[in-house]
Amino acid sequence: MQSQPHVANTPLNLPRGNIVLAPMEGVIDAPMRRLLTGMGGYTRCVTEFVRVTSVLLPEKVFLRLCPELETGGVTEHGVPVYTQLLGSDPAVLAINAVRAAELGAPGIDLNFGCPAKTVNNSLGGSILLRDPAHVGDIVSAVRDAVPPQIPVTAKIRLGYDNSDLLPEIVDHIRRAGATELAIHARTKFDGYKPPAWWSAVQAVMQDGDRTTYINGEIWTVEDSVEARLSSGCTHLMLGRGALAAPDLARRIVAAAAGEQVEPVDWLTMSHHVEAQFLRSDCQSARHVGNRTKQWLAYLKRSYSQANDLFSRLRTLHGVADIQRAFVAHRHWLASQDTEQGCESLSLPWR
Ligand SMILES: Cc1cc2nc3c(=O)[nH]c(=O)nc-3n(C[C@H](O)[C@H](O)[C@H](O)COP(=O)(O)O)c2cc1C
Repeated sequence: MQSQPHVANTPLNLPRGNIVLAPMEGVIDAPMRRLLTGMGGYTRCVTEFVRVTSVLLPEKVFLRLCPELETGGVTEHGVPVYTQLLGSDPAVLAINAVRAAELGAPGIDLNFGCPAKTVNNSLGGSILLRDPAHVGDIVSAVRDAVPPQIPVTAKIRLGYDNSDLLPEIVDHIRRAGATELAIHARTKFDGYKPPAWWSAVQAVMQDGDRTTYINGEIWTVEDSVEARLSSGCTHLMLGRGALAAPDLARRIVAAAAGEQVEPVDWLTMSHHVEAQFLRSDCQSARHVGNRTKQWLAYLKRSYSQANDLFSRLRTLHGVADIQRAFVAHRHWLASQDTEQGCESLSLPWR
């Protein structure tokens, strides 16, 4: 594959597009969706994948991964949450999609991108990209089974070992009646190694296409513009970039409208991190603090001061110890303020 073309003097007067919050297993759960959609800019979320093997799953599985089903299938901020299914048997996926729809899912998303060995070994996720007709059969079975007003979307990578089959995969998905398609612009072979090959998506864009989303390595407003221009997609899907800069979607929307909004400063963000810790991450006795540490590892990309909080928390496992670390971090921040003025309240990249 070729390297990304560099886009100079990127215009900001692009058509307004949607921004979907990417599914991230073990990271973007309901409390995180609530926080991120509260920051603004997101038009939709997708749940962590629901693993479908050979049976109709009980309701509790759907409700565990998507508690929003109990509140109309939307986050507290009114953003719809689609249920993502991962599996390989079209008929079994179809009956589970019907169950999700009956429980109130506003849309069904199908995962064809997961690179995990255990998932691929049981013929789920990205391994299906080696067989475009099978991908089409899955989309078609789910599309036929769920009520017509419920959107059925798909999420793929460029391919398995290479992107040779991409046009065929996309053709099958479109002909099977998928409402929208998100493309993580890397192969399974690429894993998560930068770059994402945004320009490779051009090959499957149709004139006036308003149904394809570009995904992968979008960390800043500038990246979002370059990803859209290189791929030809109007719409975006953000994963790790949303965790690194929780207000990124809001800033992308503002920039597209020619406006600028101030990024959220670190002190404010650190309060969000603590609230999130208390809301969800201090509940599970065995893993207290793990999600907070994982999130801070992303936040460090945008906020230099997240490093201090991360190093204070890194080895802690108790709720009280972690809360004390938040307090100590704020004292440290205040001392930095006194020494260096407001410079210390770092802001994420634009
Ligand atoms: C920890 C982790 C968990 C993920 N879980 C899922 C998942 O459940 N379903 C899915 O379709 N993609 C999943 N992905 C892939 C992301 O949705 C996204 O496609 C990928 O991270 C590239 O986008 P980004 O560079 O914006 O993060 C996951 C990625 C990561 C890093």
